[in-house]
Amino acid sequence: MGEIINVALPKGRLGEAAYGIMEKAGYRCPGVLAPARKLFFESPESGVRYFWVKPSDVPVYVERGAADAGIAGLDILREHQPEVYELVDLGIGRCRMCVAGPSDFADDESRPLKVATKFPRIAREYYAGRSRDIRLIKLNGSIELAPLLGLSDVIVDLVETGRTLRENNLEVLEEILPISARFISNKASYKFHYEALRRMTDRLARLCAGGNGEEQDR
Ligand code: PRP
Repeated sequence: MGEIINVALPKGRLGEAAYGIMEKAGYRCPGVLAPARKLFFESPESGVRYFWVKPSDVPVYVERGAADAGIAGLDILREHQPEVYELVDLGIGRCRMCVAGPSDFADDESRPLKVATKFPRIAREYYAGRSRDIRLIKLNGSIELAPLLGLSDVIVDLVETGRTLRENNLEVLEEILPISARFISNKASYKFHYEALRRMTDRLARLCAGGNGEEQDR
């Protein structure tokens, strides 16, 4: 039996592109994209086993070694700061972390700014860097509603096409961080499966425009 590398893939909108890039890199696994409920797939020929997990759980699986590697958005990595290696910028799932609000928003600096977000750490760090007091409102989705209903002044959220903002009469007020998906690995796995993970990393890096294959956090 050859070596098998466990790879956590993000379910949902990034999932298909994430698997697509793995397949192009030579790690095909039949059935992964089949519309079924099965969550793990193995290809001994390719030397991989894939798991579909909730995007924000990818770093949890990888950090704890349940997966040797995975694909996660930079938003999730900056928010949760897992102890993993960020090996390749895959250039997929591109979007921007932004502050957004009503177009006529004017900041009243005499009181804390009410910020609704799914990304409390990113929001806190951003405003701490600007010495702006905030009151954070942690939500789990449909963040754009918060300023419309007076729950918050602004939101910190991902903007991809900008359509959600437009359709809810909001606009980007400030850009915080450009986001894309990263290939990450467990630190111990990277040593233990060095050859296999190095090969995977090199193939993925070669595929990615601009060859963003530099290793970070190492
Ligand atoms: C994300 C994000 C925005 C939207 C941005 O939400 O939180 O709401 O996508 O995309 P757009 O700029 O292309 O409109 P998601 O679809 O993940 O759902 P959520 O409301 O559950 O966060």
